[in-house]
Amino acid sequence: MIPETFIQELRFHIDIEQLVSSYVRLQRRGRVAVGLCPFHNEKTPSFTVYPESQSFYCFGCGAGGDAITFIRRAENLDYPEAVRFLADRAGLRVPDEGSDDAGARLRLRILECNRAAARFYYDTLVSPAGARGLHYLRERALSDATIRRFGLGYAPAEWNALTHHLHSLGFSEEEMLAARVAASSKKDGRAYDLFRDRVIFPIIDLRGGVIGFGGRILEGEGPKYLNSPDTPVFKKSRNLFALNRAKSSKQQGLLLAEGYMDVIALHQAGFDHAIATLGTSLTAEQTQLISRYAREVTIAYDSDGAGQKATRRALSLFQQTGVKVRVLKIEGAKDPDEYMKKFGPARFRLLLQNCANATEFEINRLRQAYDLETADGKVSFLGEFAALMASIRNPVERDVYIKKTAGELAVSPDAVLQMVASNLKRRRGGEEKKQQRDMHMYVGAGAHGALDPERERNLKYALAEERIIALLLQNPDYYEYIAERIGPEQFVTGKNREVFSRLCERLRAGQSVELFSLSGVLNDEEMSLVSGLLACSPTAHHSREEAEDCIRVLRGRENERSSNEVAAMDEEQLRDYFQKIASEKKQRL
Ligand code: GTP
Ligand code: MN
Repeated sequence: MIPETFIQELRFHIDIEQLVSSYVRLQRRGRVAVGLCPFHNEKTPSFTVYPESQSFYCFGCGAGGDAITFIRRAENLDYPEAVRFLADRAGLRVPDEGSDDAGARLRLRILECNRAAARFYYDTLVSPAGARGLHYLRERALSDATIRRFGLGYAPAEWNALTHHLHSLGFSEEEMLAARVAASSKKDGRAYDLFRDRVIFPIIDLRGGVIGFGGRILEGEGPKYLNSPDTPVFKKSRNLFALNRAKSSKQQGLLLAEGYMDVIALHQAGFDHAIATLGTSLTAEQTQLISRYAREVTIAYDSDGAGQKATRRALSLFQQTGVKVRVLKIEGAKDPDEYMKKFGPARFRLLLQNCANATEFEINRLRQAYDLETADGKVSFLGEFAALMASIRNPVERDVYIKKTAGELAVSPDAVLQMVASNLKRRRGGEEKKQQRDMHMYVGAGAHGALDPERERNLKYALAEERIIALLLQNPDYYEYIAERIGPEQFVTGKNREVFSRLCERLRAGQSVELFSLSGVLNDEEMSLVSGLLACSPTAHHSREEAEDCIRVLRGRENERSSNEVAAMDEEQLRDYFQKIASEKKQRL
């Protein structure tokens, strides 16, 4: 644990504007500084730094936080590492060496232990004891050079082969367990090898450290793949298989596949820009990581239903990063590995060159979702198609799809154009309003710009909750007043309740609720939420009456309008309503 006192001291040595300037070209605009967001690709700046609150917030992707959050994201560090990074920069020493060093020492030992394990697995693979594994990998058409390049290995079938070996190298049982290369027996608590009779895929991070393993079964019972659980050096959601190699590929962009075997077969065939997730579905952290290394990504997931579903999910995740996405349609094989085996790498390259963009993928999906032989099916399809078309900014591109699809469905292009036009009109109105709203108040997007359904459903209450949180952040001296009148249990939405109760806990204990102190307590999403609130809350001048109003809303007692009327309001109207109340209150004072 890093002592709070040190965090407070660090705070005074770090200026967020200066810090961010080392990463982003910032332009001063009055009280804020703006630039292109380093966490997603964008052409017009929506990344904003607030020197006053020493925070940042991106109106494009919803990322936000303080200097520590910024460094964590920009340098891909964990919290203590980021604090150390900033301390170094400020010429300070992180105190409490003892306990802090212990964490760092353990991480180092885990990395050493993993490296030794990887070496053991590889040595075993190429020794007589690894014949089964080597045969398997060769059978799957991997060359010896590929096996060496990826450091593939074999874990013998015994219970203690690795643990014995690591023991002889001086690793303690505790360290092996912490590295999760060993598990402890339920019976006698003794450590035994986690991976047995599996071929091993070491997972290497961007700094070249062995952070974990994937193990594939050869045959027989048990899960096909076993992956290392998360450890102090391994976060599945933040890393990508083979990114350490793919990042320096000369190929354009990155190629995202589903499995380790796909990636390795692809690299062997010259597609050395292939990467994969680590046995879990894609996360927002991973798309952000990808956006730092590529402006374009091609999704080459399996051709089965699960793969297609994962593709759609990935598309929507990437949408928030601004990375250009294309989707590979693999036909006649289940995955890239099998495809290349059947048809050869040259055909795969053709596939890659001609692959569909995200729009084509979506059109195809819609076509499959409706029965286009029936009139009803056509009408429903066209409704969704028109909405999709309205989301394309380039009019020429739009025209191409409309003409093509109308032709294929044997309907008049004019009729389709008209549907698209009315969709566009509705959209434009919405966008204008959205821009206005961004200027004034909280954008309503959670971390990474995703809409939170719970918030949308309870918008009236969520807005009131958010104002209370903003108020508390800016006026911690209101704590008692607020705490006397409302508690977390009266909050309707889960995320706001969590943040509010954390704030109250700290305030009750006399601790600071400044952003700089919060980044050790709140997670990324919560930091983005509070930074967004601060960014969009126009002024720190709040009144107790304003708090009172929000509290009244939450208690379900409204006096100025009938609850039905308020319930029927949409988001814009609600915002206006709240703002009006606030300004009326100010005038009265
Ligand atoms: P091969 O059958 O060896 O070609 O596997 P693959 O790499 O094509 O994998 P598949 O498409 O079956 O699965 C994709 C990825 O999901 C794998 O690389 C693993 O990371 C993960 N995965 C697959 N099966 C399992 C499993 O049983 N357990 C876990 N935890 N992950 C799995
Ligand atoms: Mn496969």
